[in-house]
Amino acid sequence: MRSLIDILELSTAEIDELVDTATHILENPAAYAHKCDGKILATLFFEPSTRTRLSFESAMLSLGGQVLGFSEASSSSAAKGESVADTIRTVSCYSDIIAMRHPKEGAPLVAASHSMVPVINGGDGGHNHPTQTLTDLLTIRHEKGRFDHLTVGFCGDLKFGRTVHSLISAMSRYEGTRIVLVSPEELKLPSYVKKEVLQKNGIEYVQTTDLEAVMPELDILYMTRVQRERFFNEEDYLRLKDSYILTPEKLVHAKGDLSILHPLPRVNEISTAVDSDPRACYFRQVRYGRYIRMALIMKLLEIE
Ligand code: NCD
Repeated sequence: MRSLIDILELSTAEIDELVDTATHILENPAAYAHKCDGKILATLFFEPSTRTRLSFESAMLSLGGQVLGFSEASSSSAAKGESVADTIRTVSCYSDIIAMRHPKEGAPLVAASHSMVPVINGGDGGHNHPTQTLTDLLTIRHEKGRFDHLTVGFCGDLKFGRTVHSLISAMSRYEGTRIVLVSPEELKLPSYVKKEVLQKNGIEYVQTTDLEAVMPELDILYMTRVQRERFFNEEDYLRLKDSYILTPEKLVHAKGDLSILHPLPRVNEISTAVDSDPRACYFRQVRYGRYIRMALIMKLLEIE
């Protein structure tokens, strides 16, 4: 039995296989409509979510399975003081697979060690978010046709942005990846990611505060929201929240085939005037999330 806590638990061959399956599902959804008949997905969301939880539920329903769960900690026994371990022991009696989001880094890993069924990390604090990364990779495959030799810019909250940490881990395995890190001084990529991922893999990277200066180099621009809920005080959030706002003017010197990604939700960091630019991929990206999760659920349940 396999869970998915960190994107690096999947080999690059397995990622290719998931991306291929998701693409096949997208083109032939009817062929998959009964793959999970009789199976139950539990979604345990101890933190707010729209896309991750609903795309998991939509994925399982599209496979013919059923879903149960909760969307806030306050409506579960966590509010009575139950531990994650006990919640998981319980829910794994009621379901065949579990998707879980939790504000504490490492909670899904603990959950997996107490579960009788596969556990999928749907985001743990400011740490990791492997299924968003699978969604991002499916988007990149469809937009760019490849994973190698890409210059990927990450802009915004690189400190707390868990989607950034997971996507950097994934991209660091491909040949010719260059990473451009754009953030305010206070929201720089954590040094453990720099050391353990970028430096360890010999990935070329630059850090800057100036988005426009690096714009012409980028093949992909991954914009992110400043993660308000992870700040210790509101004042710092208010000071930093509008550090970067992508507008059509800032894209004047960007490549014609740039792909602009964002895990969403968007707050202010991309002007709605950018939405109609063909380089804006973030709403297509949302759509891919459902199909890659269908592929992942099938893989972890060992369904052909
Ligand atoms: C992201 C998350 O939860 O980390 N959202 C998502 O799952 N698509 C990004 C964010 O909340 O900023």
